[in-house]
Amino acid sequence: MDKLTRFAAFTLLGLLAAFVAYVFWDSGRGAGTSQISGSPSQINSFAFKSHTECRECHPQYYEEWQRSFHAQAWTDPWVKQSWACYADQDCKNCHAPMPVMLNGRKPTLAPRTDDLESGVNCLTCHMSPQGVMAPEERQITMAKSCAPVKNDLIATDAMCWECHPNQYDDWRGTSFYKKGQGCKSCHMDQMDRPLVPNGPTRKTRVHFWKGAHTFTFIKTAYDFKFVPTPKGLEVTLMNTKSGHFFPAERHNRALWVEVFFYDDKGAQVGDMVKWTIREGSNLPRNVRSLDIKPDAQVSNLFPYPVASGKAKVTLKFDYFYADEDEYTRILEDPAPVAFKKAE
Ligand code: HEC
Ligand code: HEC
Ligand code: HEC
Ligand code: HEC
Ligand code: HEC
Repeated sequence: MDKLTRFAAFTLLGLLAAFVAYVFWDSGRGAGTSQISGSPSQINSFAFKSHTECRECHPQYYEEWQRSFHAQAWTDPWVKQSWACYADQDCKNCHAPMPVMLNGRKPTLAPRTDDLESGVNCLTCHMSPQGVMAPEERQITMAKSCAPVKNDLIATDAMCWECHPNQYDDWRGTSFYKKGQGCKSCHMDQMDRPLVPNGPTRKTRVHFWKGAHTFTFIKTAYDFKFVPTPKGLEVTLMNTKSGHFFPAERHNRALWVEVFFYDDKGAQVGDMVKWTIREGSNLPRNVRSLDIKPDAQVSNLFPYPVASGKAKVTLKFDYFYADEDEYTRILEDPAPVAFKKAE
C-alpha cells in the first residue's frame, strides 16, 4: 500500500470509530431524542436554498470562505481518496453537510445529496428555518437584506463542537477556555469592515479558518527551546499557545525532532537521533504517542557523543506518519549550537 492509501485506511478507521462514538454519545446528551434526520427537501422551506445566493451581497465573505478548507471539505484530494476507499454516507455529515440547524430546534448533522463540491458552506453554518443565523442583533437599515436573526449557536462556539468534538473537548478546562478565548478568537481573525459593499463598518470575523494547512499558523501554536546544558542537549516543546492538544488533530498528524552532532572539526558524529513526539496513525502498538496537552510541555535530554562540538536540531511536522516525505513541514531549523560536556 502506498502512503496515501495507508493514510486513507487509518483515517477511515479512526474517523468511523470517532463518528460511532459521537453518534452514541450524542444520543445520550440533552433532552429528548436526537436522530440523524433531515431530508434535503427541507431546504426548500428556507429563505435561501443555495450558498451561491450569499455571494451577491457578501462577496468578500464568499471569497474568503472559498479559499478555506471548509469550502474544500469535499474536494480535498485526501478526503476524496479516503472516501473512494470507503463510500459511506457518514462522511457527508461533516464534509458535505446540510444546515446544522436544519430542524430549527437542535443542531443535527445530516448529509447533502447534491452540490457536494461546496463542502461546509454558508448554509451549513448560517441557515435555519427561522432565517439566516447571526451572532448579534443589529439594527439593519439597508433596503436589501437577508433579515438575519440572532442565534446563540453561531454567537458562541457551540456550532464548532458539532463537527470538531475532539478539539472542543480538549479545549474545555484549558486556560484559554477560562479566559473566554474560544475557537473563533484564534481561527477567525477579527476585522472592522462592512458586511456588504457600501454598508456601515462593523466588527466582523474573517471567514478563513486558519489551521494546520497554514504553515505560519502552526508556528504560533508552541514555544520551542533547546539548551546545550553540561549534561546534554535539552530540547523542550511547550504547548502554551494552542487552545487544545498540539498537534490538534488526533489521528494522523506527526511531530518529531531530529538531532545531529558534529565534532570540533565539523565532522558528523554518529547517526541522526530522532525523538518522535507524535507518530501518526501507523503507531506501533507498544509505542505511546506523546500528545502535548494544552498548557503542558514535553522535553528530552540528548547526551553528547563527544566532549565538545556543535549540535543541530530541527522540529518537523507531517500530515501523516513521522517520516520525511513531500508533505513534511520544517517548523524549526535554527543554526547549530556549540556544546561542551561536563568534565
Ligand atoms: C440581498 C442581499 C443579501 C443577501 C442575498 C444575503 N445577505 Fe446577509 N446581509 C445583507 C445586509 C444588507 C446585511 C446587513 C448589513 C449591515 O447592516 O451592516 C446582512 C447581514 C448579514 C449577517 C450579519 C447579521 C449581524 O447582525 O451580524 C449575516 C450573518 C448574513 N447577512 C449572512 C448571510 C448569508 C449566510 C447569506 C446567504 C444565505 C446572506 N447573508 C445573503 C444582505 C444580504
Ligand atoms: C464528525 C464529523 C466528521 C465525519 C463524520 C467525518 N469527518 Fe473527516 N474530518 C472532520 C474534521 C473536523 C476534519 C479536520 C481535521 C480534524 O480536526 O480531525 C476532518 C478531516 C478529514 C481528513 C483529512 C483532511 C486533511 O486535509 O488532512 C480526511 C482524509 C477525512 N476527514 C476523511 C473522512 C472520510 C472519508 C469520512 C467518512 C468515512 C469522514 N472524514 C467523516 C470531520 C468529520
Ligand atoms: C458541519 C461541520 C463543520 C462545522 C460546523 C465546522 N467545521 Fe471546521 N471543518 C470541518 C471539516 C469537515 C473540516 C476538514 C476540511 C478538510 O481538511 O478537508 C474542517 C476544518 C477546519 C479547520 C482546519 C483548517 C485547516 O487549515 O486545516 C479549522 C481550523 C476549523 N475547521 C475550524 C472550525 C471552527 C472554528 C468552527 C466553528 C465556527 C468550525 N470549524 C465549524 C467541518 C466543520
Ligand atoms: C489559543 C488559540 C486556539 C484556540 C482557542 C483554538 N485553536 Fe484550534 N488551533 C490553533 C493552532 C495554533 C492550530 C495549528 C496547530 C495544530 O494543528 O495543532 C490549531 C489547529 C486546529 C485545527 C486543525 C487540525 C488539523 O490538523 O487539521 C482544528 C480543526 C482546530 N484547531 C479546531 C479548533 C476548535 C474547534 C477550537 C475551539 C474549541 C479551537 N481550535 C480553539 C489555535 C487555537
Ligand atoms: C463553519 C461555519 C461558517 C461558515 C461555513 C460560514 N460562516 Fe459566516 N459566520 C460564522 C460564525 C461563527 C460567525 C460569527 C462570528 C462572530 O462572532 O462575529 C459568522 C458571521 C458571519 C457574518 C456576520 C459578520 C461577522 O463577521 O461576524 C456574515 C455576514 C457571514 N458570517 C456571512 C457568511 C457567508 C456569506 C458565508 C459563505 C460564503 C459564511 N458566512 C460561511 C460561521 C460560518
